Amino acid sequence: MMKPKISVEIGKLKLNNPVMVASGTFGYAEEFKDFMDVKKLGAIVTKTLTLKPRKGNPMPRTCETAAGMLNSIGLENPGLAIFIREKLPFLKKTGVPIIISVASEEKPEEFLELVAQLNIIEEVAAIELNISCPNIQGKESLIAQDPAATYKIVQEVRKITGKTLITKLSPNVTSIGDIAQAAEDAGSDAVALINTLSAMSIDVDKRRPKIAAGIAGLSGPAIRPVAVKMVWEVFNKVKIPIIGMGGIMDTASALEFIIAGASAVSVGTANFINPGVSLEIIAGLKEYLVKNKISDIRELMGALKI
Ligand SMILES: Cc1cc2nc3c(=O)[nH]c(=O)nc-3n(C[C@H](O)[C@H](O)[C@H](O)COP(=O)(O)O)c2cc1C
Repeated sequence: MMKPKISVEIGKLKLNNPVMVASGTFGYAEEFKDFMDVKKLGAIVTKTLTLKPRKGNPMPRTCETAAGMLNSIGLENPGLAIFIREKLPFLKKTGVPIIISVASEEKPEEFLELVAQLNIIEEVAAIELNISCPNIQGKESLIAQDPAATYKIVQEVRKITGKTLITKLSPNVTSIGDIAQAAEDAGSDAVALINTLSAMSIDVDKRRPKIAAGIAGLSGPAIRPVAVKMVWEVFNKVKIPIIGMGGIMDTASALEFIIAGASAVSVGTANFINPGVSLEIIAGLKEYLVKNKISDIRELMGALKI
């Protein structure tokens, strides 16, 4: 059989393969260069950037759970200017499409400033709007919990950039389909889902939360069935491509997302356990296609039989 085709398109983005790394779990890629060939990834999504540097939340801010982990990093990052000066040069050299994740701290208008600055950098292949970070203290609700607020920010950003725009959605909602619809209506080229599930673990001896901030985000295998179901829900609601994530640990779990309707997948927590896992998944997807005599991975997208 011929070599199966695994390249995919997300807006104007052309990916050699559908496997990317999730925001916040791969740093700015340079951290992983000694452990794997980052050039082979489908795309790299950076840790979320804010305009100004952020120290993040107090320690401890991660802990293990039965089938995953909690984190409340609180968007620690060097801020856009230092990122551009110190982190972007390595990313550019990889030749892999770079997706920059951005978030506002106080006012949604900060998204416009971030996007305006990224817009003039040729090597920025796409921008991911992180409107779903559960770990910024003092925020009562997320933009991604409100269809009207989601529509408004995506529409405003859309007006100022022709770059591929991805909106990252939260699972902490009643209807993720409605939020995805708002993002699509406002001109988002794709949606990425899911961000972490709002959660808490308790140290029973201290009777305190295991994470200093109290509430944190759950990721890893525990959330995969939730994420797969949400991808299927969104696939049945919108026409724009979906980047699926949540507990992808191996080829089989990546396939679940693609069969549920994802055009691409992102590997998050698994990077901490096995930094080379994304490359193993790329190889595994090819093998699956050959074994099942499928010539193009796009035939699998949304191929779920119910
Ligand atoms: C330590 C850690 C840090 C994260 N930081 C970010 C972030 O900065 N921005 C973001 O959009 N998502 C962030 N996430 C969420 C992941 O990108 C992903 O949506 C989520 O963890 C689900 O995928 P997984 O189960 O494969 O990890 C973070 C997750 C973890 C575990």
